[in-house]
Amino acid sequence: MAQDKIITVTSPLLPDLDEFNVMLREIWDRKWITNNGTMHKRLEAALCEYLKVPFISLFTNGTLPLITALQALNISGEVITTPYSFVATTHSLWWNGIKPVFVDIDPATGGIDPDRIESAITPRTTAIMPVHVYGKPCRTREIQEIADKYGLRVIYDAAHAFGIEVDGRSILNEGDMSTLSFHATKVYNTIEGGALVVHDEKTKQRIDYLKNFGFAGETEVVAPGINGKMDEMRAAYGLLNLRQVDDAIEARHQVAIRYRQALRPVEGITFWDDMPGVRHNYSYFPIFVDAEKYGMSRDQLYSRLRDNGILARRYFYPLISNFSTYRGLPSAARENLPNATRMADTVICIPIHHELTEADLDRILDIIVNKR
Ligand SMILES: Cc1ncc(COP(=O)(O)O)c(C=O)c1O
Repeated sequence: MAQDKIITVTSPLLPDLDEFNVMLREIWDRKWITNNGTMHKRLEAALCEYLKVPFISLFTNGTLPLITALQALNISGEVITTPYSFVATTHSLWWNGIKPVFVDIDPATGGIDPDRIESAITPRTTAIMPVHVYGKPCRTREIQEIADKYGLRVIYDAAHAFGIEVDGRSILNEGDMSTLSFHATKVYNTIEGGALVVHDEKTKQRIDYLKNFGFAGETEVVAPGINGKMDEMRAAYGLLNLRQVDDAIEARHQVAIRYRQALRPVEGITFWDDMPGVRHNYSYFPIFVDAEKYGMSRDQLYSRLRDNGILARRYFYPLISNFSTYRGLPSAARENLPNATRMADTVICIPIHHELTEADLDRILDIIVNKR
């Protein structure tokens, strides 16, 4: 039976409105509302500290840092990536006139399978764009070894990887650059927003030029840049959200603990446990449905949840390689992507966020566990 309250897959972390107003008053008084203002600088510094990274450049969303990273590194030809992601990953290649080459994923992480990268390399390959999907770290060491062997760049789409650490080290320090998304649906949000993490000051400078039309000073344009700047309002919002993101992550962690406890005995439903040594952010809780063992298909369960007001999402179905823009690429063939295909066909991300109540979790689990 349908219930009144709709439960969404996530809920945006919102700053306290009174505190936000105080920040807005400051901005109003300064009358400097964008273009590397005080809030922007403060947020970059605060994020470097929180994320344990040396340099970060804020953007207006998480797509432009991908596009800009490719520009900054002069990437061309072919780039190896995976189809198990949000479509912006591959779109960023397309916007740079680069041919995406899809490689299958490792079913243990959802990230690119390093064992399949080498056979996809051609003389035109210039870079690898892996995705830390759901914030689960890719096999970064093996990826870097291949990149070093063939002289390739590595740009991580780390849109989901806010705050992820492996053995105390930020995953954002891997590769040549990493991008973040601060979209409203992410564990840390600035409504719309994003960032590019780089390892040295010179590159940070170049990125800052590129996100401001290529301007280096008032009268000089050093590159065909774009407008990717974050404004002061969203930077202020981001400063406030940074203060409460740890509590939100812990609340999500508690939801994950409850889900794992309740779902472990359910035949035909699988999920991931935490990885040893990894600080997770619990931004998603994907479950995988084996229709035969569970007695219901993924889509039947998805519809049943929906019919009961629970808006789970099938991230990442369909695969990017199945969208009409990319379907014709040789690497998009189903036979090339068996693990990604299986994952996309069986996954449901069930609700996880900081505001879920015990009653919400009971409702969700009652449907999945008792198949009501
Ligand atoms: C893996 C991935 N890459 C890139 C993006 C693009 O980020 P944005 O929506 O902030 O442009 C998203 C998210 O929305 C994403 O999930």
